[in-house]
Amino acid sequence: MSYNNILSEQNNAITTITINRPSKLNALNSETIAELHDAFAKANEDTATKVIILTGSGEKAFVAGADISEFADFDVAQGANLARQGQESLFDFVENLSTPVIAAVNGFALGGGLELAMSAHFRIASDNARMGLPEVSLGVIPGYGGTQRLPQLIGKGRAMEMIMTAGMIDANTALEYGLINHLVTQEELLPLAEKLGSKIIRNSSVAIATAISALNAGFKEGLDGYEAEIEAFGKCFGTADFTEGTTAFLEKRKADFPGK
Ligand code: COA
Repeated sequence: MSYNNILSEQNNAITTITINRPSKLNALNSETIAELHDAFAKANEDTATKVIILTGSGEKAFVAGADISEFADFDVAQGANLARQGQESLFDFVENLSTPVIAAVNGFALGGGLELAMSAHFRIASDNARMGLPEVSLGVIPGYGGTQRLPQLIGKGRAMEMIMTAGMIDANTALEYGLINHLVTQEELLPLAEKLGSKIIRNSSVAIATAISALNAGFKEGLDGYEAEIEAFGKCFGTADFTEGTTAFLEKRKADFPGK
């Protein structure tokens, strides 16, 4: 698939996916969502990719939301379908990838943009970032998982306030809320994402993938996170990475994980 709205580049085991519609503040139209699905799927299948960084192009926006011009005339069934398809193909898909995804939020992350950042495994931001779920100001609600992931990340009361007021929070508030893990300047943002990525790369990719699924299990209806952890923990003992990691420790050398 060739891309019109995104860029995907692999370097040193890190694939950086950049949403590249700066004239529309990187708003997510259906074509961009399909391209993102394709790029994430390919990066996840690529054994040379150990970490994925997601960011927006330009200095102003990560993603300013779902593309409002595409759904303004939708009816009830089309609205439900938009949310379902988007959640399945991109937002849930990203959250459940076995490769770690870091969102590097470089400006506005609004509506579907914040929902996409929240689907990533964690977030960092530059000091010009502004985050919000402004959907109720348009007569709609967040439909790409925002009503679920925002309270998971910042607590129910704060999420209620952000969603009801449709307001934006600045990067300092996002840091205080725990919505982002680190706050830096725009110039420092991608270098920090790469630095964090390079720390992740040193570890067992199989164990990391297993940890992602155990962590996510605790937030899924009908799944017992503790039970999922026990099973996932046990599975690790059958991997070549476990053999290498424990052997290297006992031999007082650096582990060279086979990734299996
Ligand atoms: N959907 C479609 N187009 C969007 C968009 C979105 N979510 N967000 C921005 N754009 C487009 C604008 O229509 C404009 O296009 P144009 O130049 O062809 O008119 C372009 O991006 C630049 O945006 P503009 O509004 O001129 O920039 P600004 O600096 O004045 O304002 C925002 C920035 C983010 C405050 C403003 O664009 C905004 O409120 N966007 C919508 C945010 C939103 O409600 N998102 C949730 C959607 S569910």
